[in-house]
Amino acid sequence: MTSHLPEPGRRRRIALLPLARRVALLTGAADGWSSEAAPEAGLRRLVLSDGPAGIRGGGFGSDGCSLLFPNPTALAAAWDESLVLRAGTLMGAQARAAGVDWLLAPVLNLHRSPFGGRHFECYSEDPLLTGRIAASFVRGVQSTGVAATAKHFAGNESETERLSYDARIDEWTLRELYLQPFEAVVRAGVASVMAAYNALDGVRATENHRLLTEILKEEWGFDGVVVSDWGAARSTDETALAGLDLVMPGPDGPWGGALVDAVRAGRVPEELVDDKLLRLLRLADRTAATPAPPLPASAEARATLRELAVRGMVLLRNDGLLPLGPDSIGHLALIGPNAVRLTAQGGGSAQVRPERVVEPLDGLRRVLGAAARITVEPGVLTHRNLPRLDPAVAPGGLRLDFLDADGAVLRSEHRDRAHLILEQEPPEGTAALALSAELLLSSPGRHELAVHGGGAFRLQLGAGAPLEFTLRAPDRDPLSPLVEPAEFRTHAEGGPEPLALRLEYAYDEAADWHLFGLGHLPPQPCPDELLDRAVAAARAADTVVLVVGTTEEYESEGFDRDSLALPGRQDELVRRVCAANPRTVVVVNAGAPVLMPWAELPAALLWAWLPGQEGGDALADVLTGAAEPGGRLPTTFPTGADALPSVHPEDGVLAYAEAHRFGYRSAVPALFPFGHGLGYTHWNYPSMQVRGTEDGGLVVDVRVHNGGTRTGREVVQVYLEEPGEPLRLIGFAADELRPGLTTAVRVTVGPRELRRWTPGGWTVPTGPHRLLAGRSSADLRLTAELRLGASDPVHRCGPSRSPSAAAPPTPMPIPTPSHP
Ligand code: BGC
Repeated sequence: MTSHLPEPGRRRRIALLPLARRVALLTGAADGWSSEAAPEAGLRRLVLSDGPAGIRGGGFGSDGCSLLFPNPTALAAAWDESLVLRAGTLMGAQARAAGVDWLLAPVLNLHRSPFGGRHFECYSEDPLLTGRIAASFVRGVQSTGVAATAKHFAGNESETERLSYDARIDEWTLRELYLQPFEAVVRAGVASVMAAYNALDGVRATENHRLLTEILKEEWGFDGVVVSDWGAARSTDETALAGLDLVMPGPDGPWGGALVDAVRAGRVPEELVDDKLLRLLRLADRTAATPAPPLPASAEARATLRELAVRGMVLLRNDGLLPLGPDSIGHLALIGPNAVRLTAQGGGSAQVRPERVVEPLDGLRRVLGAAARITVEPGVLTHRNLPRLDPAVAPGGLRLDFLDADGAVLRSEHRDRAHLILEQEPPEGTAALALSAELLLSSPGRHELAVHGGGAFRLQLGAGAPLEFTLRAPDRDPLSPLVEPAEFRTHAEGGPEPLALRLEYAYDEAADWHLFGLGHLPPQPCPDELLDRAVAAARAADTVVLVVGTTEEYESEGFDRDSLALPGRQDELVRRVCAANPRTVVVVNAGAPVLMPWAELPAALLWAWLPGQEGGDALADVLTGAAEPGGRLPTTFPTGADALPSVHPEDGVLAYAEAHRFGYRSAVPALFPFGHGLGYTHWNYPSMQVRGTEDGGLVVDVRVHNGGTRTGREVVQVYLEEPGEPLRLIGFAADELRPGLTTAVRVTVGPRELRRWTPGGWTVPTGPHRLLAGRSSADLRLTAELRLGASDPVHRCGPSRSPSAAAPPTPMPIPTPSHP
């Protein structure tokens, strides 16, 4: 994305507009998902859309489909900037094709705690990895002429009271951890930054002059637009003075006439208004300057999504069962709630409607052949609300009528889904909406039926008496009606005759959401029987693929998780299935860590994340060895939940009391450490060489040897340890290598990666340090003793014993720190 108009051109265009008009352009347009246009100043309307897993388009109720990408943590797990560049480019191309100019992604908050509801939307617990992955994603998106948005700036690591909590983060931790990724994307030229809902150190992010102006705009030189999170601008003068540039969504908000008055009264300088508009024009010009790239053909896009999913999957354990030779499988049992329905994405504003989702069974059938013997059993059901009604149950579709107060039909529409979010104005005089369908509940027995949503309803099933009820979602978040809608349950007997259903919803103009839908669960065996059937299927099969995990009802924006345990009786399912069949692969389909007290039981354990629409094919590729699961954990998988940072504010304050000590920087042993991942070969680390560079950085050449029998890709990780401090990742690089070969993987560490924050500012560290290289934060094979700040920083290089057992570095005089 380049700037094609010189700055003065923009200033002249701004000068054409009267003050009230200039101010009006700084609040979004009435549709809630675009900015205002000013043709007289050459400013076009800019269309915004959420990410980061795909292009949702305007609003939540659109029927448009999008490519569904693996969740961001899965992308980061490949530790591969060029791959993420491709992901960003594909997402950008789709945005352009959908008429979107401005993407509300990536999410740069850190994995502070796996309880965080939006953990799955973030890349990593580590600021260096987050920043490097994010910068590549931003470059990819922006190469297509779409503006990317770094969000949520800053301290927005959890959802409980997210609109108001006050994150108290000490300056050292804020600078070295939480602000790092944002600075990295500003250096990469990100066009926009989103100011978060929460406060930071007592001042709301949208009103935080230090954050938005002193650090972001002045210190880092950010020349793009600071946009508010949706509804996060809650004052006039404070937000305008702090450095917020665009209030979203429109058309109302705290600016408009109130900001004009503030300028006229001399409380807000007029130049500040002009600076905001200048930034908006700059973003508009930059996006317009890049021609739209062609959207790849569907097959090509799907192949990319599949590759992204494969490359992120992490093989956590393997006793040698994987890869499964397609010929050695015979009879396969495909078990688990997520084997029956893959969770392809998390919940909240990131959610898109995918054009398709490849289920695990589809993928396995493709590789094993249509005739393969595969038994499928869910074992456990994990839904909170009943699953959404499958369109096949209403084969004729559904009719939606808009009714006036007398029940007369004002308009009728055909719908193929039983879920509705009304975002457009209904016809004048609408008093109710009615959804009707003929349901085919053909299997005999008790069918559970449900209505999800908020408001007053009347449900008529066949000739039964009408049921009247009111539903209200929990009142904890503006998105609650969407992500945890209330539910009314009833039931009907199955049979050959279609069942007429009519659901009426009383239209209340004042309601924030108009959202409702139907849930359905066909007759089920009782929970014990369901488990027994899965265990019997496991016993009867040669090999078991057991897919457990979460769903978007557990991992979502709008609330934090209340437990890290797998939902329902899945732990019991894993234990019993592993006992029934030793050839069991457990696949975990979740975006954020879950507790795996049974991790030692299966013959192999694969982490599949929320793999997006091509997930089933990617899983089959990895299980059968058509591709290597190339991922390394970008976040620590804890053994238990006790020692994790709290996500619950106390009296409105969320103290980041753990400072640096979370994830791999904490002293708590992990179940699977940060950086861990096996792949299908094994690696030796014979030696490394370290040298200092003139600019104060380091070049680390790590020799790795592929000691297995397959080609593989190794991610070499380099950490720095200074006395009394936790390890920190300072660089990584990867290479693909054929079996038996050795190569030197070069990891370049810039001076920026070495610097530390002190009360006086950034400091170049000096003195004895230890550099460690290896496969994960807990598997560090090589060590170098360094004297940072010395002309030749390398003191000694060699194989690690264990980091803690290595000899202490030789004491040496420490030169005075210098400030860059
Ligand atoms: C989320 C943002 C999102 C916005 C618009 C907010 O609730 O925090 O990430 O971009 O809504 O959907």
